[in-house]
Amino acid sequence: MNTQLLSCDPAAPEGEAVRRAAELLRAGELVAIPTETVYGLAANALDPKAVEKIFLAKGRPQDNPLIVHIADLDGLRLCAKEVPEQALNLAQAFWPGPLTMVLPRSERIPGICSAGMPTVAVRMPSHPVAAAVIRASGVPLAAPSANLSGRPSPTCARHVALDMNGRIPLIVDGGDCGVGVESTVVTLCSDPPRVLRPGGITPAQLSRVLGEVTVDPAVTKPLAPGQKVLSPGMKYKHYAPKTRVIILRGPLARYAEYIRAKRAEGENCAALCFAGEEEAAGSPALPYGAENDPASQAKGLFRALRRLDTLGVETAYARCPEETGVGLAVYNRLIRAAAFTIINL
Ligand code: TXA
Ligand code: MG
Repeated sequence: MNTQLLSCDPAAPEGEAVRRAAELLRAGELVAIPTETVYGLAANALDPKAVEKIFLAKGRPQDNPLIVHIADLDGLRLCAKEVPEQALNLAQAFWPGPLTMVLPRSERIPGICSAGMPTVAVRMPSHPVAAAVIRASGVPLAAPSANLSGRPSPTCARHVALDMNGRIPLIVDGGDCGVGVESTVVTLCSDPPRVLRPGGITPAQLSRVLGEVTVDPAVTKPLAPGQKVLSPGMKYKHYAPKTRVIILRGPLARYAEYIRAKRAEGENCAALCFAGEEEAAGSPALPYGAENDPASQAKGLFRALRRLDTLGVETAYARCPEETGVGLAVYNRLIRAAAFTIINL
């Protein structure tokens, strides 16, 4: 299959790219689109055959459910069997934006979207191109991140092309994604509501609307063998570069010393550090954001993980993000990239 790449200006999204995307989506095809979090691989959520193509194109395990993307609250009523007041309050506060809610699934959404679960994950993206494509296609769009399963999520069209060329008919290029990590997933089917995946909307922000909110232990800890998860996505080794990643927790001076010693032993390793630390960390060093700016870390992490694999090193030693605020989302992705390997310095 030939993969076409069409640019679309987020400041003026209506045009050829959006028209072509909508046409393909209505015909049951897949289209990669930009969102404010990461690029998504979209299909008509109401068409089980189209949704099946997503799993094939990504090599995604069949038991990992998808997020359904909507453009307005009518979309929410279509997807969810019932819309509790909590959902409307969250929508009011954070939509459109990087928040996904899990609710009881309506009969209109085929089981394959939710991997057979009785719930559905719904999100209203704020990216103008994503919103325009959903509106123009006139249907809710099932869309996981547009990477091959197990690869870092794509934050620009070039990364989508690296994984999806030849597998899908169209990539819409809307520039770099602003948030850089996937949306926060919160389930309203647990009492109290529970964060299944941290993202750009923090647990503290959710608490201001919902009251008590818990964070699923699987967000920061590996699963025990056979342990049941509420969100199947959490059980896979995700966000994995090919290079082995090890997190070093501790101050910069100890970090730099540790890497220097490894290099002196002859280890071919890179430093996945914070901006401005390149000199201290020694070459090669790859910064993924600034130390006291978790939003910049979120924005830079997946790009850095992809670049890591082009350096030809065995190991990358990563600086450890703070586990608070948006930093929790960065930590959650990085510990998975590191297969939970952390060394306390
Ligand atoms: O920001 C995002 O959310 C991006 C963009 C494209 O919108 N999408 C995304 O989709 O990250 P994906 O498929 O890579 O991640 C979906 C996550 C998985 O961890 C999955 O297990 C969880 O959402 N999920 C989906 N439906 C669920 C459900 N019914 N119950 C619990 N977890 C669910
Ligand atoms: Mg994904």
